[in-house]
Amino acid sequence: MRISIFGSGYVGLVTAVCLAKLGNEVICYDIDREKIDKLQKGIVTFFEPGLKDLIIKNLAEKKIFFTVDPLFAVRDRDIIFIAVGTPQKKSGEADLSYVKNAANEIGKNLKNYTVIVNKSTVPVGTGLLVENIIEKRNKHSFDVVSNPEFLSEGRALYDFMNPERIVIGSRSLRPKKIMNKLYESFSCPMINTKVETAEMIKYASNAFLATKISFINEIANICERVGADIEEVSYGMGLDSRIGNKFLNAGVGYGGSCFPKDVKALNNIAAVNEYDFKLLKSVIRVNNDQRKLIVEKAERLLGDLKEKKVCVWGLSYKPDTDDIRESAAIDIIKLFHKKGAIINAYDPKVNYDQLNKEVKFKNKIVFYMNKYDALKNCHGLFIATEWNEFRKADLKRIKSNLIEPNVIDGRNIFEIKSVNKHGFNYLSIGRS
Ligand SMILES: NC(=O)c1ccc[n+]([C@@H]2O[C@H](COP(=O)([O-])OP(=O)(O)OC[C@H]3O[C@@H](n4cnc5c(N)ncnc54)[C@H](O)[C@@H]3O)[C@@H](O)[C@H]2O)c1
Repeated sequence: MRISIFGSGYVGLVTAVCLAKLGNEVICYDIDREKIDKLQKGIVTFFEPGLKDLIIKNLAEKKIFFTVDPLFAVRDRDIIFIAVGTPQKKSGEADLSYVKNAANEIGKNLKNYTVIVNKSTVPVGTGLLVENIIEKRNKHSFDVVSNPEFLSEGRALYDFMNPERIVIGSRSLRPKKIMNKLYESFSCPMINTKVETAEMIKYASNAFLATKISFINEIANICERVGADIEEVSYGMGLDSRIGNKFLNAGVGYGGSCFPKDVKALNNIAAVNEYDFKLLKSVIRVNNDQRKLIVEKAERLLGDLKEKKVCVWGLSYKPDTDDIRESAAIDIIKLFHKKGAIINAYDPKVNYDQLNKEVKFKNKIVFYMNKYDALKNCHGLFIATEWNEFRKADLKRIKSNLIEPNVIDGRNIFEIKSVNKHGFNYLSIGRS
């Protein structure tokens, strides 16, 4: 099929290369000219395992094209995906300005019947909004479909090619048939439903996963008080197939470009519709408190944090990505700064220049290219992200590089036995 994708970010690019791999011709359109110029040369501006190679391969095989020309992107397409950002406004509601701009551009340039697919995570009712915007600017027939994306950064290509379900929300048979044809090679359940239901499935899924994380973090906090071990509690719970073992790891709380904003957006949808979503409010509060807990633990080990030097390992919101959006590590560094601490930081993938541009740390922070160098002259180590290379770190070297052997393990990556053997002062999450 002839496909276009509005938005060449994580979701747009992964969708593009995967649909090209399945034999479709894909045009990627973005308003960011610099990004498109780079992509045309096979340069990807963020890290996602395997993505760069597939882009280069598809470019060479002329299966994928990059453009800033909306007419080229809209003309003669069977399907146009909208995969632009839907960040959070200060009020908590989703900012739909990018979606509206994309719909406007599509409406202006549409020349033949096309299925317009909302892949961005959008509040219930956005399908209708997009429909109205396009209708105002265009005389040709079209349909708007909701097809939310469930991929996870760090394993996005695998997730896209091996979905557990595909959700298609449509109003009539024509777009439904086209979308089902697009995905006919997938063997997972295909949920054909109303647009509104599809939009809600995405928010409800993310809110439920965030709830699991906040729930296990609360259990961890009780474990510490009663002498239970959260790792074994999670394992014991997760073996129950009704519960499942995923998203049941206690830690510093959820982050990233999706959970925080989607949970708040759903809470806002509830409020706008005069429903008090009490559970979700608690999920948000528990997540914020979990960040503060790390600073409390650091104070227990290091005392007053003023002028203390803390080494932070991991800055991305999770391993195998360089994405720092709503990363717990960044929030916690800001809390450390408020207490007067000085930070040395290391991350295997995060682009430090980009991070400095986006976060504008006002206080002292020094970035390192080597995790052991980052430890030098520090009073303690805080592990914020569970990168595999941290799990395999040499405890002897950590101890000899730190001034004091203090470790706050925000991801429970070390065995208590080993840290004890090496003589660390060690605090983790939910383990006494
Ligand atoms: N990142 C994830 O893991 C993930 C997973 C599932 C769903 N989602 C959802 O998918 C959507 C996109 O997320 P993302 O992480 O890919 O965002 P992103 O910020 O990485 O990319 C968005 C892209 O859209 C471009 N853009 C903005 N306005 C545009 C316009 N009018 N026309 C064309 N391009 C435009 C931006 O320049 C940017 O390149 C969001 O709604 C998000 O919630 C994200």
